[in-house]
Amino acid sequence: MNCARAVAACCLWRLRTGRLQPLSAYGRRISVRFCSSGMTLDNINREAVDRIIRVDHAGEYGANRIYAGQMAVLGRTSVGPVIQKMWDQEKDHLKKFNELMVAFRVRPTILMPFWNVVGFALGAGTALLGKEGAMACTVAVEESIAHHYNNQIRTLMEKEPEKYEELLQVIRKFRDEELEHHDIGLEHDAELAPAYTVLKSVIQAGCRVAIYLSERL
Ligand SMILES: [Fe+2]
Ligand SMILES: [Fe+2]
Repeated sequence: MNCARAVAACCLWRLRTGRLQPLSAYGRRISVRFCSSGMTLDNINREAVDRIIRVDHAGEYGANRIYAGQMAVLGRTSVGPVIQKMWDQEKDHLKKFNELMVAFRVRPTILMPFWNVVGFALGAGTALLGKEGAMACTVAVEESIAHHYNNQIRTLMEKEPEKYEELLQVIRKFRDEELEHHDIGLEHDAELAPAYTVLKSVIQAGCRVAIYLSERL
């Protein structure tokens, strides 16, 4: 087989299998094929995509640790199955961002060990206030994450939305599911938590700091 035939066969195999195309590890603008759809994105803004995937991965990881903390305290109570269902969705969110990190060669934030401990402590700590405390935490965090995802959607739409269509679809889907979690929290008496307004404000201030740091570190 001559060289041109070998290259053509290789390209055809990649098109059929949807395998990743090689990435330029150091280039600012790269070419990427998503595994799931086979869609090719050319000339993406590497810096913006790095920042988005890193912070979203950190956020979904933190959400998983929060629900783990809540389940450690409330897992055997009547709200256990409700929390478990939300946690299961967070596991899917994290799995997707793990895949995107590999596909785009984005490194995780160096703060992951910190979010591991802080997330679990926040989940368990608010759950110790009762199911209302846990649900207040859920409302505060999910509202912050949905707001953050909306900001990212606006950012990507202002660039070249057709290039980022699959990433936009992921973020929109997850934003909608975070809003469902927010509503579930309200339906389960979040507003009856002790010092609800203060608790929510403090947690959301923490979320803003976590987002700021995870985008940059
Ligand atoms: Fe999530
Ligand atoms: Fe969520």
